[in-house]
Amino acid sequence: MPLEPLQFLSVLVLHGPNLNLLGQREPEIYGSLTLAEINHLLEEEGQNLQAEIHIVQSNHEGVLVDAIHAASKKHQGILINAGAYTHTSVAIHDAIAAVNLPTVEVHLSNIYKREAFRHHSYIAAVAIGQISGFGAESYRLGLQALVHYLRKMS
Ligand code: DQA
Repeated sequence: MPLEPLQFLSVLVLHGPNLNLLGQREPEIYGSLTLAEINHLLEEEGQNLQAEIHIVQSNHEGVLVDAIHAASKKHQGILINAGAYTHTSVAIHDAIAAVNLPTVEVHLSNIYKREAFRHHSYIAAVAIGQISGFGAESYRLGLQALVHYLRKMS
């Protein structure tokens, strides 16, 4: 019997401030891959998972909020590394709550092993889950977890 074709999924990938500098930014903490290389890895993983991904990076909180609002009509889920906004942004928390799209939070570094100000995440309370500390692999694991969750829902 032929297999059922998998349902088409579209995921918004959001990278927050300073992540455009990956590769040169504190490589001992964030690794040596550039953002373009991480995005390529995500595109490949998206193909494996039969999910289309749309990627946005911004250093501006409002741009990230606008992208989350626009996602509700275009995408089924959100993968987000909000960078430093993780620890400060009630606005991003509220935007995710408002669109009510399943969201997975990722971090390259293990935020709980670092300075105390990184231990609290405003995203965590509105995310289905969080992956932190596996370097670029956090993104791949996060995408797998999100797509798995979305397929179970449908
Ligand atoms: C980060 C962790 C944040 O604390 C930091 O501000 C970042 C990157 C990470 O991916 O490990 O910019 O989100």
